[in-house]
Amino acid sequence: MSGVNEIRSTFLDYFARHGHEVVPSSPLVPRNDPTLMFTNAGMVQFKNVFTGVEKRPYQRATTAQKCVRAGGKHNDLDNVGYTARHHTFFEMLGNFSFGDYFKPHAIELAWNLVTREFGLSPERLLVTVYAQDEDAASLWRKIAGMPDERIIRIGTSDNFWQMGDTGPCGPCSEIFIDQGPELQGGPPGSPDEDGDRFLEFWNLVFMQYEQIEPGNRVDLPRPSIDTGMGLERMAAILQGCKSNYDTDLFRSLIDAVAHAVGRAPEGRETASYRVIADHLRASAFLVADGVLPGNEGRGYVLRRIMRRAMRHAQLLGSRDPMMYRLVPTLVREMGQAYPELVRAEALIGETLRLEETRFRRTLERGLSILDAETRDLAAGQNLSGETAFTLYDTYGFPLDLTQDALKARGIGVDTETFRAAMERQRAAARAAWSGSGEAATETLWYGLRERTGATEFLGYEAEAAEAVVAALVRGGAEVEALGAGEDGLLVATQTPFYGESGGQVGDTGTLAGPGLRARVTATEKKLGDVVVHHVTVEEGRLCVGQAIELRVDHARRAAVRANHSATHLLHEALRQVLGDHVAQKGSLVAPDRLRFDFSHPKPMNDDEVARVEAIANRVLLQNGPVVTKLMAVDDAIASGARALFGEKYGEEVRVVSMGADAAPDGRPRTFSVELCGGTHVGRTGDIGVVTVLGDSAVGAGVRRIEAMTGDAARRHLAGESRQLAALALLLKVPPSEAPGRLAALIEDRRRLERELADARRKLAMGGGGEDADASVREVAGTKLMARAVQGVEMRDLKSLADEGKTRLGSGIVAIVGVAPDGKAGLVVGVTQDLTERFDAVALVRAGAERLGGKGGGGRRDMAQAGGPDGAAAEAALEAIQAALAGA
Ligand code: ALA
Repeated sequence: MSGVNEIRSTFLDYFARHGHEVVPSSPLVPRNDPTLMFTNAGMVQFKNVFTGVEKRPYQRATTAQKCVRAGGKHNDLDNVGYTARHHTFFEMLGNFSFGDYFKPHAIELAWNLVTREFGLSPERLLVTVYAQDEDAASLWRKIAGMPDERIIRIGTSDNFWQMGDTGPCGPCSEIFIDQGPELQGGPPGSPDEDGDRFLEFWNLVFMQYEQIEPGNRVDLPRPSIDTGMGLERMAAILQGCKSNYDTDLFRSLIDAVAHAVGRAPEGRETASYRVIADHLRASAFLVADGVLPGNEGRGYVLRRIMRRAMRHAQLLGSRDPMMYRLVPTLVREMGQAYPELVRAEALIGETLRLEETRFRRTLERGLSILDAETRDLAAGQNLSGETAFTLYDTYGFPLDLTQDALKARGIGVDTETFRAAMERQRAAARAAWSGSGEAATETLWYGLRERTGATEFLGYEAEAAEAVVAALVRGGAEVEALGAGEDGLLVATQTPFYGESGGQVGDTGTLAGPGLRARVTATEKKLGDVVVHHVTVEEGRLCVGQAIELRVDHARRAAVRANHSATHLLHEALRQVLGDHVAQKGSLVAPDRLRFDFSHPKPMNDDEVARVEAIANRVLLQNGPVVTKLMAVDDAIASGARALFGEKYGEEVRVVSMGADAAPDGRPRTFSVELCGGTHVGRTGDIGVVTVLGDSAVGAGVRRIEAMTGDAARRHLAGESRQLAALALLLKVPPSEAPGRLAALIEDRRRLERELADARRKLAMGGGGEDADASVREVAGTKLMARAVQGVEMRDLKSLADEGKTRLGSGIVAIVGVAPDGKAGLVVGVTQDLTERFDAVALVRAGAERLGGKGGGGRRDMAQAGGPDGAAAEAALEAIQAALAGA
């Protein structure tokens, strides 16, 4: 029993046997603590359990916790590689009691584990206790039989453990091993305690207090236990190694480095192998937990770690990117204990390869500048800060990389002028920008961004996170606080909220703090990477600097994710059905629906819509994983990933792939690969179902489809089938026969309307002809047939007039038709033999006036007019008769 993996499992099994819940490591990016850059101890995930704010179903826990100490309070970066013990990434084994057992049992458990399970000889062990903790000293005597001379009292902060400036804390007791007189060094507390002989490997913290703020310490609800054992150190002890880097796990990694650079570690170069092995672990685990190299915050720390390793790879003579080639070895060694490494293997490899490719492009030039600038410097002298800044700004050398490169020669860097140059450049950028004519409120964002930096987006993995309020804005100006009932804009140090971009709507949700409740009603992005929350305070007071918990509305986000992934599926399905000319022209991804605009010259027919929908749903049912990867934009596009035309991308892009498909030649390929910064489902099956609502026109050559997914689609489809059922019930047929039945009814109705019109016309002419003849009179020697008829439309009046003319043989016909709405139509016909003497147009005008109409028109033999006043029909006919008599 001494391999790293066995030591880890022995520890966890031991505490599991003693009633402890084995809890998985929490991510390296603390979700519950905005004051921490990275998780740096096992107790971080239990911080709120110690203080009583959070309840768990167990009172004892044990973990192997991933930790990074490379930024903030605990920062070991500069030493890594040059000492036997320092790491940026390490594993902390711990056992925890949340108000259950306290000192006696903690000491007993620890003692039995190290002496019995791990078999360390008690004579080689010694402990420290906090000077005022006599209780702990007597327990070590009683439980472990530890003689007084090996219980060392320390009065300094070394034996009072604090996570940071705030949080749970308490006196602690550390266990040391004496590695033998052949090594240099004295026991803890002695002047030469820093030597290698006495090695601390386990810290037992007796958590008793909570530091609320400097000078304000309160008791925890119940005394608790937090311990931390360095796994790498325990492995070195049990494997009899002088350095952590000689243990089995590190030997494998260092062998892989040796293999990649083509030679074995030797002499001064050993440090470079160690740096690479250590930084590989930190980089891989950080990427697996969602951090990507960048220019700010956590991303920048990761970039520094990566580039420091890459610089050492170059020192070892490696000409090409090599870090990514080490990833399989790391995954083999640690993937079983940390499955997230296996899941992220491709992303880790690709991220390393990309960063190293980019870095190498400028490394050689930068180093030759560094060489030239330091040629005349001697040990103890400083490189100018201006040169260090040029290296930083133009060649991507983090300051500590420059410092590291000069360390071996004893040359330093003038950091003061470096920082001054940095500040000058920022000021210049600000000045250049404010001249661009942007609105004043936008200027506010620019200044604010200078101060707060980009917001760290945690929302690809998390829907809730703690954060600190970095700024508040109300009415276009920054404010210190928002009171109950007020609304404003909030920028936090980090957030799980997605700011509206790329067509995807921003998240909504809540935020809370002690005595504080607020709603986040919308989220947007300013200046590309500052996430701005629109908040309404419902209770309490929201202040800058305050710690808050941000929680995204889960159901809404889940629906948005489904719609975003479905958009990608529909995009590819449209291309397959309509052709390669289909390109995205716009998109909206909302919780209730999605909209996708694309280039296509004509409407889609039903069959095309159905095929697009079928293809998308087929891929959905494969239920394959949705894979996201970070890539160089050129590589991504060269590999066939769909990008928006005309969109400006950064050098690195996020590539989202999903679904399995076959190329025309039968080879398997990924169904959809797109550049996308949005949030997506984990597997395509999470979309549920996609239903396309239809296609419409947006502009010349651009069509739009709308679609729904998941529960919204189900409700929509259920609603439609209920309506169909209601329709079928009315039609008294099964739903499948409803369309045929309805078509038949419509045809019937048309026929009936035709028949009704005929019947009305016949009725108007009096059916047999007597009635019509009764309306004929002689006026000034000419026969006039004058009639008013009800319910006949204008279009039928003319044929009635024609019929009248035929009956008269020679004469004049005037017919007023009163429509069902009370309006009147008037037609006057003159037989051909009389058109010399009478004009139908003049006669119709005489009548139309009475009907309240104006004008009238036609030819001499047939004219028509209309008017609103159907009740004046008889008067109109009399006016015509009078006009005739007077003619
Ligand atoms: N939290 C304690 C430490 O990190 C155990 O040393």
